[in-house]
Amino acid sequence: MTGPALLALRSLRLSFRLYEGVARVLDGIDLSIAPGERVGIVGESGCGKSVTARAALGLVSQRNAELSGDVLWKGESLVRAGAQRWGALRGREMSMIFQDPSVALNPVFTIADQMFEVVRRGGKVARRAEALDLARAALARVFIDDPDRVLRSYPFQLSGGMAQRVMITMAMINGPELVIADEPGTALDVTVQEQTLRLMAALTRESGAAVILIAHNLGVIRQFCSRVYVMYAGTVAEEGSVDEVFRTPLHPYTRALFAAVPRLGGGGLPQPIEGVVPDYTQAPPGCRFSTRCPHATAACDREPPWVEVSPGRRVRCVLHAPATVAADA
Ligand SMILES: Nc1ncnc2c1ncn2[C@@H]1O[C@H](COP(=O)(O)OP(=O)(O)OP(=O)(O)O)[C@@H](O)[C@H]1O
Ligand SMILES: [Mg+2]
Repeated sequence: MTGPALLALRSLRLSFRLYEGVARVLDGIDLSIAPGERVGIVGESGCGKSVTARAALGLVSQRNAELSGDVLWKGESLVRAGAQRWGALRGREMSMIFQDPSVALNPVFTIADQMFEVVRRGGKVARRAEALDLARAALARVFIDDPDRVLRSYPFQLSGGMAQRVMITMAMINGPELVIADEPGTALDVTVQEQTLRLMAALTRESGAAVILIAHNLGVIRQFCSRVYVMYAGTVAEEGSVDEVFRTPLHPYTRALFAAVPRLGGGGLPQPIEGVVPDYTQAPPGCRFSTRCPHATAACDREPPWVEVSPGRRVRCVLHAPATVAADA
């Protein structure tokens, strides 16, 4: 990435105290995104993508959670600034689009009530009538023919596709500089999913918002993002431009992940990755992928080194370390 970061996660660690022990769910995440940039996060189910998104937005406040490291918004430490400042930025300067609109929309309020609340929190408009004018115009932009009917509705009265468009409208209405989209639309059918992504792409392109897109569908990441982070078990395994990472995946995990995905137009049968993501209360020391990695050696029991292959292209694996580092490890 060039230029100053809009959002940066610095050595972010998150653990949950559970009955079974301490689950170290995020183990030092470093990630950054520049204004207007589109960054993808990929990785197997359970590897910490959603938790990373929630931590970035200041949405992990459970009593059993412990967060360390930092989240910087344009250089400002939000961990230090605290929940109130974080909450003020959320929904205004940074917003989130979820997998399932039925979770994000409140079932007991009409869409008008919820839109009004979002716009009011944005701080630019305080009167309900004015806020609803804005909402009507915004809904029309996402191809909703009858915004008034939608505004009068409760979430259960909307189709899944309609609810998804309402959710995107709410995420965009205050002109956020960053949108985090966590598997947008995947709770719905494939057509709605595509529609959701297309709409999000169009709206964010128009507004210039930066996007962090979390998706299982690697084709979507390839199409939509310019950079990508590959996560494994609460760590970043590698990062780089989408072109480079897809053309030459370096980390054994990335290679396994790509091989596990069916390819259009042949390329052999997908090869599932052997084993499972480790139990976070008993994550192995050193490289967390070592328990499943075909190349693992004793060196992998130590913290793997970050190897910068070229500017912005980094891999966290001893295999790629210069010989001296590998010998030391
Ligand atoms: N509040 C919580 N308390 C305890 N553990 C949690 C909590 N939230 C998430 N986790 C654990 O953190 C790990 C990472 O979960 P997360 O939802 O971030 O994965 P993910 O990469 O988004 O997976 P998916 O692709 O299935 O959405 C999981 O093992 C999950 O059980
Ligand atoms: Mg998730």
